[in-house]
Amino acid sequence: MNSKHKWNTKHTDRMKEIEEPKPNTRLLYLSEYLSGGTALDLACGLGGNSLFLARKNYQVQAIDISDVAINYIQEQAEKSNLNIQTQVSDLTELNLLNWEKRSFDLVVISYYLDRSLFPIVKSLIKVGGYLFIETFYQSPQTKLEGISDQYKLRPKELLTEFNDWTIHYYEENELEGRQTIFCRACHHSNFVDRI
Ligand SMILES: C[S@@+](CC[C@H](N)C(=O)[O-])C[C@H]1O[C@@H](n2cnc3c(N)ncnc32)[C@H](O)[C@@H]1O
Repeated sequence: MNSKHKWNTKHTDRMKEIEEPKPNTRLLYLSEYLSGGTALDLACGLGGNSLFLARKNYQVQAIDISDVAINYIQEQAEKSNLNIQTQVSDLTELNLLNWEKRSFDLVVISYYLDRSLFPIVKSLIKVGGYLFIETFYQSPQTKLEGISDQYKLRPKELLTEFNDWTIHYYEENELEGRQTIFCRACHHSNFVDRI
């Protein structure tokens, strides 16, 4: 089963269980920083974060490999008249050149790990813009059986990766096995310089 098919099945099951997907708890907690502009939600799933950000006056671009998830977000956005542009794309095949002219006030990646996105994301965020990432990490306390280490950050990895950004929030939750960062770009990062 390919990744798109696998995620379409998961999202179809999930849609039967939920009323409206909820935003990430830490993102919600950081609301005071979220003052609108342009936002990019990568691997957005059913759009809990995208819908929340659109309600906070962001023009959101929401991307996911699953057309089931993207159709769902589109429906919700239309129903509630929210500014969300959706796109079905495989992030592993992102065409970098198309992205070079885009920039965002906020990029969100929640529970999707592809390290090759880090330099791209750095170059997509405006100076003064924010980045929120949360996903699993290799917690010494929680083994998170069933999730391969390939999909987990190393301890302190996000802190090291974004050490030249202004960190407003960082948490490694050993029991839940998650790592969260919310940081601000203080200088322009040129992707071309990094490859
Ligand atoms: C664990 S879910 C997280 C969804 C959402 N960000 C959240 O926090 O609720 C991972 C998401 O990544 C998407 N995904 C997996 N592989 C992908 C890929 N190669 N390109 C784009 N999206 C992908 C899946 O469809 C799924 O929606």
